[in-house]
Amino acid sequence: MEKRICLLPGDGIGPEILEQGVLVLKKAFAVSGHTLHCETALIGGAALDAVGHPLPEATIAMCKDSDAVFLAAVGGPKWDQIQPELRPERGLLGIRKALGLFANLRPAVLLPQLAKACLLRPDIARKGLDLIVVRELTGDIYFGEPRGLSVRDGKRVGFNTMIYDEEEIRRIARVAFETALTRRKKVCSVEKSNVLETSRLWKEVVCEVAKEYPDVELSHLYVDNAAMQLVRDPSQFDVIVTGNIFGDILSDEASVITGSLGLLPSASLGASKPGLFEPVHGSAPDIAGKDIANPLATILSAAMLLRLGLGMPEEAAMVEKAVQKVLEEGYRTQDIMEPEAHLVGCKEMGQRVCAHIAA
Ligand code: IPM
Ligand code: MG
Repeated sequence: MEKRICLLPGDGIGPEILEQGVLVLKKAFAVSGHTLHCETALIGGAALDAVGHPLPEATIAMCKDSDAVFLAAVGGPKWDQIQPELRPERGLLGIRKALGLFANLRPAVLLPQLAKACLLRPDIARKGLDLIVVRELTGDIYFGEPRGLSVRDGKRVGFNTMIYDEEEIRRIARVAFETALTRRKKVCSVEKSNVLETSRLWKEVVCEVAKEYPDVELSHLYVDNAAMQLVRDPSQFDVIVTGNIFGDILSDEASVITGSLGLLPSASLGASKPGLFEPVHGSAPDIAGKDIANPLATILSAAMLLRLGLGMPEEAAMVEKAVQKVLEEGYRTQDIMEPEAHLVGCKEMGQRVCAHIAA
């Protein structure tokens, strides 16, 4: 089998963590006898500096031409003063939209090897944490029109539009229910239907879709309550389905409480190929180029790429097992360092994972 991957290293620690992710991918391909072709394209601040736009047309074309897109991170203080249309983040939002990636899957898991890193009280952590946020990614207040800045009655105003149509809600709800069928069969839909019309439609449509999935248990929470329940008892959640802005916030919360933001991968999928796979964390410009960044979120994103992007579940499991082995052996990058553990850099962490990948 031959596959083509488009690599988007981006900014900050992006290039160095992606390098390790790619070495792991190559190793997984090699041990299973398949061929991997990688091409690199520009995105974010790096693209802005090189060609004057955070998402060059050539990048979109190269992504569309690939079987999966592997992205690291974009952004940094260097581009903070840039006009909004040219910010590095626009590159990321643009590629999601251009590839129609409406479903963002963000698992948050408390690994037993890292239980001590969990930010929650031990009695809460002991109950476990293994959930996945299914976030709608191409609609909502992020893309709704009208939007803008203007002057009304002599005062400056800023405005955005929260909007979903029923089809956008239906397709993300289906992704959530399908995901639940592969897990503990529970979906919690998060919205703000006590205040927002958008959320009332959201809840109504999710309830309609639920009828197609009688084996899945559906519950509903307002977003403020969901934010609270996530720290009070995250073990109650299996699949959380929510809109773009609520999902942005809740997925950060869900991931940071595991204590290992540097470990969490994500997948963004559309109706057709290619999907895009990236770590949940950002570009961490303050530690870029020092070989101290944690490549594991990127490496675990490579596992999601193998499973969900290329239909290679055995290779995905190999990568995940290799990561667990390295953690069991006590190797840690500085962000998850514990007393008694062995401190390693970004490169060594990647090499150690590669060394454990075998058929
Ligand atoms: C994320 C990020 C992005 C988002 C930013 C960088 C545009 O926070 O992937 O969660 O808001 O979607
Ligand atoms: Mg975010």
